[in-house]
Amino acid sequence: MSTSRLSGFYNLSIEQRRAVLEQQGLLSAEELATLAGAPGLVAEQADHMIENVIGVFALPVGIALNFVVNGREVLVPMAVEEPSIVAGASFMARLARSSGGFIAHVSPPEMIGQMQLLGVADPQTARFAILEKKAELLAAAAEIDPVLKRLGGGPRDLEVRLIAESPIGPFLALHLIYDVRDAMGANAVNTACELLAPQVERLTGGRVHLRILSNLADRRIARARCTILLPELAFGDFAAETARDGVIAAWAFAAADPYRAATHNKGIMNGIDPIVIATGNDWRAVEAGAHAYAARSGRYTSLTTWGKDADGNLVGALEMPMAVGIVGGATKVHPAARAALKLMGVSSAAELAQIMVSVGLAQNLAALRALATEGIQRGHMNLHARQVAVAAGAVGEEIERLARLLVAEKTVRVDRAEEILLAWRNAIPS
Ligand code: MEV
Repeated sequence: MSTSRLSGFYNLSIEQRRAVLEQQGLLSAEELATLAGAPGLVAEQADHMIENVIGVFALPVGIALNFVVNGREVLVPMAVEEPSIVAGASFMARLARSSGGFIAHVSPPEMIGQMQLLGVADPQTARFAILEKKAELLAAAAEIDPVLKRLGGGPRDLEVRLIAESPIGPFLALHLIYDVRDAMGANAVNTACELLAPQVERLTGGRVHLRILSNLADRRIARARCTILLPELAFGDFAAETARDGVIAAWAFAAADPYRAATHNKGIMNGIDPIVIATGNDWRAVEAGAHAYAARSGRYTSLTTWGKDADGNLVGALEMPMAVGIVGGATKVHPAARAALKLMGVSSAAELAQIMVSVGLAQNLAALRALATEGIQRGHMNLHARQVAVAAGAVGEEIERLARLLVAEKTVRVDRAEEILLAWRNAIPS
């Protein structure tokens, strides 16, 4: 991909946008068709994915432009229903380009599998009994998944935690740390925990109750940072310094207050979930990890930080767990997910995670910049008005015309849209 800066892309028709991606050699006509919903995921394939299938559910897929992640130009597919998200991310990515875009990295792809050990006579004795045999237990776990072993993954450590207080009294929680390479990892980790449990029971005389992955994947962290050069921040009546300080003050609210932090982090996930979905990954897992990580200090707070550097530029950073894969599960089964991965040109889960946190950071900035200046509704309403127009029954050219009128009237509501539509239609001579 030579540049993710496809100017005028917004004004093209859907067909023309697809043609651009095809001409650039990013996706074939067949791959583009899967993202276009035809054949996409057909019910017959879906029938192998979940139970009682009766059909498939479609979402819009848009392309976020202008992203440069670790020096690489990347087009980002986003599957999402909310207006403004794709435009917001693309615009902030454009502002970040003049300082080189986003710099991102990840920790090793280590997931945590939990075993709940109940009924031991003395927790400390049981803990020591497990730790004394740690090497043997890890060696046994290493044999469970030969493919992962060949790829350099497998068990890395075994930790034993005492849960001193719980509604059923104290018990032990074992953490199997497992390097899952390019997989999301739930299957590998759950299998390993289930297979190790009998050995743990023999060693301790206790009973292993739950054996399951933890979604607080705090050893599989993705981080992104960016610098927005001060002049880039000026817009409309807002001076660059005003916009910058406004963003920092908006972030401070989220850093200090959980009510605001929940919304602030939702805005970050507006950038991340659509890529998680477009690539067939488990967005509930990523959401759970993000919010649990945001509360890791005991007080729920912002996942991002915003400040200024020595030259007065705006600097932002995002750090969060990112349990996503490019092998296994729907990432391989879903034809559109395969096309989405190809479009981004990612060859590892690490690269995918790096793109995701970069987009999350951009999305957060889009929201904070709007909130700190003109407010969120203006930008939102223009796009929202189109959805309201469609919901009211507008078709064809009526949609754009009605949307513009609703925005001009500052009444973007379905009842008003229906009223206008009725008046238009009644006015047409039959
Ligand atoms: C709306 O989907 C997301 C925002 O509420 C995020 C935020 O408040 O930071 C705009």
